[in-house]
Amino acid sequence: LAAAPGRADLAGLRVAVSTGGTREPIDPVRFLGNRSSGRQGTELAVAAADRGADVRLVAAHVDDGVLDAAARHPRITLERVSTAAELQRAMTDAAAAADVVAMVAAVADFRVAEVAHEKLRKEDGVAGLDLVENPDIVAGLVAARRDGQIVVGFAAETAADDAELLERGRRKLRRKGVDLLAVNRVDWDAGFESAGNRVVLLDAGGDVVSDTDGTKREVADAIWDAVASRR
Ligand code: CTP
Ligand code: CA
Repeated sequence: LAAAPGRADLAGLRVAVSTGGTREPIDPVRFLGNRSSGRQGTELAVAAADRGADVRLVAAHVDDGVLDAAARHPRITLERVSTAAELQRAMTDAAAAADVVAMVAAVADFRVAEVAHEKLRKEDGVAGLDLVENPDIVAGLVAARRDGQIVVGFAAETAADDAELLERGRRKLRRKGVDLLAVNRVDWDAGFESAGNRVVLLDAGGDVVSDTDGTKREVADAIWDAVASRR
């Protein structure tokens, strides 16, 4: 059940949330990126703040207008970043003073090995891009987890059906070591830019804590309900 507005059941809780998609520069005019709108992470931050938590929201690239309510919220401190490296620094810093850390950001898995300082031009010949893997930020946060701190991860997966979705979610949960993993199915037309979302929340043991098909705010409240029951 979602909290009634004004119910401050998260009062005193310090929360760090990341949202949006990182961009990894290729040259001064190009980047590697992804389709994250930043809505779900921002809704998670706003829901926590509405329920009384003090929130630090680290936002990478988000769609226009998505951050408006968060930027105005008296209990949200907003910080903007661009690359995975910047996001990692900001979240590592935020996590040091947080009771709950939620990595909702879509981190680009790779960056180019060497950023070109001049625009790449066709006339100079088309070479392939050398890619290197970005650090796994949430795995680092789990490794540095303080006593009692709760780390929440998100996994957007393509899957043929619910069984495959849960199987992929459980595998990722084990690999990441997070306390809660929110799993949602994405496709070319589902999950990313949409207003609604279906999210299955798994606990550390892989059990389903909640299964929410609703607005991104309802999904956010279901996650905070799970966190509140663990306090
Ligand atoms: N994540 C992260 N750092 C990365 C990649 C992902 O912290 N370099 C976090 C995301 O913020 C999310 C969780 O890990 O909370 C799952 O992201 P996902 O992209 O599904 O996981 P990956 O390990 O990158 O696996 P995949 O190959 O499926 O993309
Ligand atoms: Ca990834």
